[in-house]
Amino acid sequence: MASIALPACPVSLSPRSWWERLIARISRPGFPHPAWGWQQLSAWPGVGFADGYPGGHISRAWFNTGRGGNGSAPEEPPSEDAAKLPFYHESVLLKEVVEWLQPGPGKIYLDVTLGGGGHTEALLQRGAKVVAMDQDPVAIAYATSRLRCYADRFCAIRGNFRNFPDLLKEIGVGKFDGIIADIGVSTRQLSDASKGFSFQKDGPLDLRMDPDAPITAADLINTMSEEELIRIFIDYGEEPHARRIARAIVKHRAAQPIRTTLQLAAIIESVSPRKGHRHPATLVFQAMRIAVNDELAALEDFLDAAPAWLKPSGRVAVISFHSLEDRVAKRRFQHFAAPYIDRPEFPEPRPNADHCLRVLTRKPVEPSDAEITSNPRSRSARLRVAERLPEP
Ligand SMILES: C[S@@+](CC[C@H](N)C(=O)[O-])C[C@H]1O[C@@H](n2cnc3c(N)ncnc32)[C@H](O)[C@@H]1O
Repeated sequence: MASIALPACPVSLSPRSWWERLIARISRPGFPHPAWGWQQLSAWPGVGFADGYPGGHISRAWFNTGRGGNGSAPEEPPSEDAAKLPFYHESVLLKEVVEWLQPGPGKIYLDVTLGGGGHTEALLQRGAKVVAMDQDPVAIAYATSRLRCYADRFCAIRGNFRNFPDLLKEIGVGKFDGIIADIGVSTRQLSDASKGFSFQKDGPLDLRMDPDAPITAADLINTMSEEELIRIFIDYGEEPHARRIARAIVKHRAAQPIRTTLQLAAIIESVSPRKGHRHPATLVFQAMRIAVNDELAALEDFLDAAPAWLKPSGRVAVISFHSLEDRVAKRRFQHFAAPYIDRPEFPEPRPNADHCLRVLTRKPVEPSDAEITSNPRSRSARLRVAERLPEP
């Protein structure tokens, strides 16, 4: 969990029964349950929702402050120590994010990848307000429970961060002192066999972060042409054996559809034998995850919109976990930070109408040796930060 000491949040029920009930609840139509106060609730003037959960792909929730949208106390979960909640995710570069974003009372932040709520919590602990979002309803439910003691300064919205301006316009929040995106999947998502992110555990070939998204990895694996599969494995996985893996997939699926993670992993291993520590299916699973969730395009959409939502001197921080994401962040920051654009076809450099950022991290910030030792998953994390220029 987060390395910063937490104040005890009042959340009760034993972790196991709480978790099981949560999963049961979110599997039902109509989640989030109105008894949790997922309906209109605003501790902040001018912010909130008039309607209950609308269902569908984009949903949102203000967490129950304990007074409830209708003035009543929340039905559940009752109180106990938040530390007893099941493990969800260990935040990476937490200290560095706090140092760069400089949270404090009177400031407001947007966390577009709420996950287990670790980064949001660090901002809340320093007195800031946070609007957070995630496309995974389990993350929204978990983090809002964990952070309920901050409910008068925190709200969570379910949705894809590529649509964040539309989601925010609906709730009427203005500009931010800082925005954080910690891209990728959480440990909880990775370890949930039913999501299909892991080739080490058998599960459906799903790989969707948003369970309501229309396309699963099985859909792509069983319907794309061999050429399309090769493109995905190369573009999103930089997989050196893309061709032979795609050929093997096409051959196997002609006999029977490929439905599970272990089926796909075995096909890959049959043509791309294990070398060193890395499982031969690693890059294909990365590629399929990026394709299913359209991750790079979503990141570009988010980065294109983010600067306009920063106050002057407000900062945007992006944590990525592989070079494809890091390259997108680096290039978008460079674009917004360039006063002029120079192209071969221009007689001379032209002023850049998008110029509004200053890059603060010339090189990406990497985790310390101590962090990598205590959380090996952090080793590939890279943090880039840029700052909004003052208004002209
Ligand atoms: C690495 S985890 C974030 C962990 C979090 N910062 C913490 O400290 O616990 C990434 C989260 O971002 C979410 N996510 C990834 N892409 C997203 C997108 N395009 N829109 C909304 N949420 C997204 C995932 O569902 C996941 O919960």
